[in-house]
Amino acid sequence: YVLGIDLGTSSLKGLLVNKKGEVVATASSDYPLIHEKPGYSEQQPQDWMTACEQVLGQLKEEVADFTQELEGISFSGQMHSLVVLNDTHEVLRPAILWNDVRTTKQCERIMSEFGEEVLAITKNIALEGFTLPKVLWIQEEEPGIWAKVRHMMLPKDYLGYCLTGNIHMDYSDAAGTLMLDIEAQKWSTSILSKFNIPTDYLPQLIDAAGQIGTLLPTIQEKFGFEKEVKVFAGGADNACAALGAGILDQETGMASIGTSGVFLSYEGPNNKGYQGKLHLFNHVIPNAHYSMGVTLAAGHSLNWFKDTFASNESFESLLSDIDKIAPGSDGLLFTPYIVGERTPHADSQIRGSFIGLDTTHSLKHLAKAILEGITFSLKDSQQLMEVESNRKFERIVSVGGGAKNKDWLQMQADIFNAEIIGLETEQGPGMGAAMLAAIGLGWFDDALACAEQFVKYKGSTKPIVENVEKYQQYYELYQQVYPATKTLS
Ligand code: XUL
Repeated sequence: YVLGIDLGTSSLKGLLVNKKGEVVATASSDYPLIHEKPGYSEQQPQDWMTACEQVLGQLKEEVADFTQELEGISFSGQMHSLVVLNDTHEVLRPAILWNDVRTTKQCERIMSEFGEEVLAITKNIALEGFTLPKVLWIQEEEPGIWAKVRHMMLPKDYLGYCLTGNIHMDYSDAAGTLMLDIEAQKWSTSILSKFNIPTDYLPQLIDAAGQIGTLLPTIQEKFGFEKEVKVFAGGADNACAALGAGILDQETGMASIGTSGVFLSYEGPNNKGYQGKLHLFNHVIPNAHYSMGVTLAAGHSLNWFKDTFASNESFESLLSDIDKIAPGSDGLLFTPYIVGERTPHADSQIRGSFIGLDTTHSLKHLAKAILEGITFSLKDSQQLMEVESNRKFERIVSVGGGAKNKDWLQMQADIFNAEIIGLETEQGPGMGAAMLAAIGLGWFDDALACAEQFVKYKGSTKPIVENVEKYQQYYELYQQVYPATKTLS
């Protein structure tokens, strides 16, 4: 067996997978988020290890041969979140998470003092979520803590350290720190020296499928694992989700619609970057990158709408028969900027809107317009990828809540103008983590061979030509809403 551990924002999930790529068992354990002040989001790194031990315990109880057959473990981790340790490897303060937004001032400082260099080296611009602004915040606001810092890492690397005693970081997660030269695959000495960060505070870099060690004897014995269990570095959750969905070529995109939405694409080694308009990070496979755009309130927009205007209805009843309403919701447009927008506007102040309301519109028109607005927002990212790197997505793997409704799948096919396919069993980033362990163990020669065995698709929804044309017209209107409403917020 291999165990993929998905260290998420609200829980840690374990996915136990056999050599055929079949999921044998899953287990999960929750931990709290700490919001000490508005905009703050923190977590205790020790909680991740406690959750990990609980998950190992649950799997031991559920799967008779778990402790005999487990050969390898790897990770998928929440990105960007900063863990700081002292010289004796003690945690110095709670981890500052990716969704913590206290660092606006530090982002402005990075962009005004060193913005062009940071963009050229990391291919990204400074955003509140990323790691470097968090490091500067500790330097500026907690100098006493900064004086004691000797090691900095991301959540899954801290868990890897607790399990093996070794600290490493893979390239996909390192790319999200804003401290990695993503082409040279080295820590950027110019960024580090500019911001007074000693290079040796950062972990040794390693491939995502590279081995960081074996389970510490105390853990090996505590659970009674019979074989030596090898531990592999693992990768950023978005990169692992991409691997688990088989996003390994330029023509296959991924649309993931959960609370937030992500449009993601594989990028080969010669990509030109997107000048910070999209994120560009190293993939979990060697010499490859991936780009992604984020819709902050995807499912969140629909949840808000249902809770506020249709709290007595189920999602099924709210969305039933929306296929009877023509594409474009009879002239109604929604922009899903209810908590600001990340891609392509990077604007935390903009707010959403319904445009074109008419007395003939029903609750269902509004619901349909919301699905369309969310999908248009993801199309903004798709369009940047297609136009700036001169290609066309042949197929798009749809995952998350957006893949569960057949009318939304048709809408995605029509708006993205591409075939939409789904995954046979959707396991999220944990599957990518399990695949990294399988590749690291040498079960497969490379990620492609592993994906052939582990990733199974189902369903196909093709675009309908007349809908594609209609949606293209509505999308052009949608694109005009942001500049027209920018000054209103
Ligand atoms: C990506 C990002 C989130 C986290 C969630 O830039 O901030 O998707 O990776 O864990």
